[in-house]
Amino acid sequence: MDKFVITGGTPLQGEIAISGSKNSALPALAGALLTDKPVTLKRIPRVRDIRTMQRLLVDIGAKVEAQGETFQLHTARIVCPEAPYELVKTMRASSLVLGPLVARSGRARVSLPGGCAIGSRPINLHIFGLEQLGASIHQSHGYIEAEAPDGLRGAVIDFDRITVTGTEDLMMAAVLAKGETILRNAAREPEVVDLAELLARMGAQIEGAGTSTIRIQGVELLGGAEHTIIPDRIEAGTFAIGAAITNGDLTITGCQPDHVGALVSKLQLAGVDVTQPGPNSLRVRGAGRLRSVDMTTEEYPGFATDLQAQYMALMTQAEGIAIITETIFENRFMHAQELVRMGANIRLDGKQAIVAGPRELTGAGVIASDLRASASLVLAALMARGETVIDRVYHIDRGYEKIEAKLARVGAKIRRVE
Ligand code: EPU
Repeated sequence: MDKFVITGGTPLQGEIAISGSKNSALPALAGALLTDKPVTLKRIPRVRDIRTMQRLLVDIGAKVEAQGETFQLHTARIVCPEAPYELVKTMRASSLVLGPLVARSGRARVSLPGGCAIGSRPINLHIFGLEQLGASIHQSHGYIEAEAPDGLRGAVIDFDRITVTGTEDLMMAAVLAKGETILRNAAREPEVVDLAELLARMGAQIEGAGTSTIRIQGVELLGGAEHTIIPDRIEAGTFAIGAAITNGDLTITGCQPDHVGALVSKLQLAGVDVTQPGPNSLRVRGAGRLRSVDMTTEEYPGFATDLQAQYMALMTQAEGIAIITETIFENRFMHAQELVRMGANIRLDGKQAIVAGPRELTGAGVIASDLRASASLVLAALMARGETVIDRVYHIDRGYEKIEAKLARVGAKIRRVE
């Protein structure tokens, strides 16, 4: 298993470019199953979750040609409408093929995800929505089987809580359903909007993506399309916090600043200098001293849960007490104890982490427990005194493209050891 060895203390300085969004690319790849025509997707990040999705699509029957960041997908026929346990357990987003498979072939068999490091993460809302669209659902041997031999029919689906991949999955199911579907209390994340744009290019009729009510008029067939994935807002946010925590001066290029608005507000309140030198860039400069600022995770446009761990690392360096409240996942504080091993003062109380700072962090051996927790440990290590060894960095490889190379180019002392 690979490790990162990081020597802290160097401010991040220079320009760092953002890759395509993992969480946008995953549903887009699944969306390509909806048509028997070729779909070209550009700016796909080269991360492990994408390779997992690629394997899944090939097993289902897609031909996938990847050249750098451009993927060409062609699913002339669905050969095996199934997402097996061994893939779903490594990547929950595999359940994104459920909607497209039922819509295209009238049948899907998808493993139920088991437990997860950050919370229970069930897919009951995906299943509920498919039932509303007329699919019959059976559960056995750890699998969900959905069938709609005569096709899906439009319905009103009221989500009782906001789900990002649930919204995406049902949007993909509804585009080929007969009649109108209305998704209420839908997720408003930029990744949902990006998927709607791809589907519209394929011929789908969707209105309201980016708001909490999405209206879809089903069509009989979808065609091929070419689409470029949006920049990864979580990667951009991670590097912005990296600049702030190392007291550096980083220009983040190829990003969409309005997608990280909630983070930018918090950084500015904490005393970090954030400016927008161009429409697709952000400049983040540390201001020496940081103030503690409370933060609560929320669905978009609120503060992203996927940046909570990184923000907690930053607050260990801020003056005062910051209360961080996690409202999306019930167990997303695994990084806190590792940060404490490095010297942080953090107390956990249910959904809240109480962070008192500033505390000097010193390098230590730590273990990455999930993707964003790993990113938080990398950021803490970049500012800590001495050497930190982060074990299990395969978690970070799931969602950050060449993070050590990108960080090394802006001054970080980071190397991967096998
Ligand atoms: N939920 C249910 N039932 C469902 C679906 C969700 O109870 O059927 C609950 C979840 O347990 C959670 C909440 O609803 O408490 C929100 O979960 P959501 O479904 O929105 O999460 P997701 O779609 O599985 C995506 C991202 C996550 C990100 C969350 C929240 C992808 C592939 N994944 O997950 O990204 O944290 O939305 O924004 O888009 C990551 O990239 O590190 C990551 C975990």
